[in-house]
Amino acid sequence: MTARIGVLISGRGSNMAALIEAAKAEDFPGSIELVLSSHDDAGGLALAQTAGVPSKAVPRHAYKDKSAFEAALSAELERADINFVCLAGFMRVLSGDFVTQWTGRILNIHPSLLPLFRGLNVHEQVLEAGVTVSGCTVHLVTPDLDEGPIIGQAVVPVKPGDTPDTLAARVQKAEHLLYPIALKSCLEGAISGERQSLQLNEILLSLR
Ligand code: GRF
Repeated sequence: MTARIGVLISGRGSNMAALIEAAKAEDFPGSIELVLSSHDDAGGLALAQTAGVPSKAVPRHAYKDKSAFEAALSAELERADINFVCLAGFMRVLSGDFVTQWTGRILNIHPSLLPLFRGLNVHEQVLEAGVTVSGCTVHLVTPDLDEGPIIGQAVVPVKPGDTPDTLAARVQKAEHLLYPIALKSCLEGAISGERQSLQLNEILLSLR
């Protein structure tokens, strides 16, 4: 079985683009079949279109509440027969009801080494803390924000003189490498029916 993957974005879509590129490989165990954006002005929508992936805005503001918004997302995912979801810079917190429907089949990428530095303004938090490494984490999504089981992490140095922007740029390079590897590992684990092993937690990339 090949996974039919839907990617949920809100903005630039550089992680989405990395997933689309990686999924072109013949041995990739899935295909990116749909991109949905919570913002109608997301740059990633145009990127998806250029890549030939069906994409659609499902703008949060067009729905009266979160549950109507999520029903619209679910309808689009169902219409495209999606069976695996990747959140890639999706700036909406999904409800427990939505997430539970996708248990074990929904990933997120977060720009820190979880469980450190959850939430927003992550790079500011990292610089404030004075740590010397940061990175990114791909994890399964559970109803608790930034809490799900970790699939893989990549580490980058925090350099003297870093600003939130310079650190974000370094972390993003790592994100683009990590997310495809972590997705592939996760799908292979899921497809073979094996429990995800510790090995999946050992994806470690070192970037300058
Ligand atoms: C990434 O830094 C990701 O970790 C965070 O949002 C950002 C999305 O960037 N969740 P992009 O839209 O993929 O370029």
